[in-house]
Amino acid sequence: MATQTVSMDQIVSLSRRRGFVFPSSEIYGGLGSTYDYGHYGVLLKNNIKARWFEAMILERDDIVALDSAVILHPRVWEASGHVEGFTDPLVDCRTCKLRFRADKLEDSQCGRKPSKHPGEFSECDLTEPRQFNLMFETTVGPVKDSGSRAYLRPETAQGIFINFKNVLQLARRRPPFGIAQIGKSFRNEITPGNFLFRVREFEQMEMEYFVPPAEAERWYRYWIDERVNWYLRYGLRRSRLRVREHGPEERSHYSQGTSDIEYLYPIGWSELEGVANRGDFDLTRHTEYSTTKLEYVGPDGERYVPYVIEPAVSLERIIVAMLVDAYDEEIVGERERTVLRLHPQVAPVTAAILPLIAKDEGMVGKARSLYEELRRRHSVEYDDNGAIGRRYRRQDEIGTPWAFTIDEQTLADDTVTVRDRDSLAQERLPLGGVRAWLDDALEREWRTPKGD
Ligand code: GAP
Repeated sequence: MATQTVSMDQIVSLSRRRGFVFPSSEIYGGLGSTYDYGHYGVLLKNNIKARWFEAMILERDDIVALDSAVILHPRVWEASGHVEGFTDPLVDCRTCKLRFRADKLEDSQCGRKPSKHPGEFSECDLTEPRQFNLMFETTVGPVKDSGSRAYLRPETAQGIFINFKNVLQLARRRPPFGIAQIGKSFRNEITPGNFLFRVREFEQMEMEYFVPPAEAERWYRYWIDERVNWYLRYGLRRSRLRVREHGPEERSHYSQGTSDIEYLYPIGWSELEGVANRGDFDLTRHTEYSTTKLEYVGPDGERYVPYVIEPAVSLERIIVAMLVDAYDEEIVGERERTVLRLHPQVAPVTAAILPLIAKDEGMVGKARSLYEELRRRHSVEYDDNGAIGRRYRRQDEIGTPWAFTIDEQTLADDTVTVRDRDSLAQERLPLGGVRAWLDDALEREWRTPKGD
């Protein structure tokens, strides 16, 4: 089994070739590090969101869903500390006119001498660092003045905190309980890059778990484990995942403890997801700024401000990790194939239906009716275009776990071949049993054949 290390260029090229993700606004020359998702990219995203939603909400009794607005009252971002402190240090190079993050110069390339870092080349002329706020500003209403200034949210979390009281009352919850949401966030990153890893517009999946203060440490550890197990459940290799605890100097202003779940991306070990113990910072600040008390009052009168444990990740970082982990190139029968060994519940297409001979009415009829039957419950694709080997390869490349082929034998005995993407094993099944077989196969535990 080929388990070579994949480069980011290979992932970018496959994503583009197969229409998962491509540079946005391309007909206008592109807008640096902004991407659009094509058909398979949307299916992949939807599946990842669905798996997260299942694990966070549908399989539990203690977490509810929320979908808050992108543009919130500007005071929200004063209370959260973002107006004052959501900044990165920025330097300009007067020579090459590029901008860099002053704290990440060793990860950046000089504009004139890409083999050197900014500041290392004799002609580099860097300004003093100045703080640059990463929030995108906008205005609300027709008049542009300071009173109409608002921000595109840089995280979904604050929409959850400001709804704490609503959920407490309407969903009748008591700590420990959580509120989860998926939605776009925006950050005017100084140096976006590495494909989807750092972008200015991304989709966050965040959950704020409100707990009695004395239980915070226990729940913090619990959520780190839960989230690592979620990645293992959906096929990431254990050897490519690790947990790194932040030192006190690295933590955000709100954090009493933060751990990054890191993945071994082609750029090295980097943050996939963060799990933080935010203490009572957010509820206390919003109480102070809004004058609405955000606390829990128990039936016997006990009252406290819950602590918050937050697992936060973006779909973009998960997509890159999953594509990198799944990607393989190997020789099969003297021909090269590129295969995405994605978890079957994540793969954009669950099964392909392939009539062996596209002009054979009998085969086409049976293939179409199988396709019509399966598409009601699953993401399936009908493909009668080209030689069967090429059709298998097209499906391998987008990670389709199974292909059902309708051939001459199907016409004789109503059986079909199912081909497994990973093992390439083929077996015959009764046509009438395909739907149940597929339901079962999707429920089976799946481990990547690439090992741990
Ligand atoms: N509410 C806490 C919070 O937003 P964060 O560490 O700034 O914390 C959480 O972001 C997660 O969002 C990160 O672990 C990462 O998965 C993702 N993320 C942050 N900035 C990103 C960017 N520019 N592009 C893609 N994903 C990003």
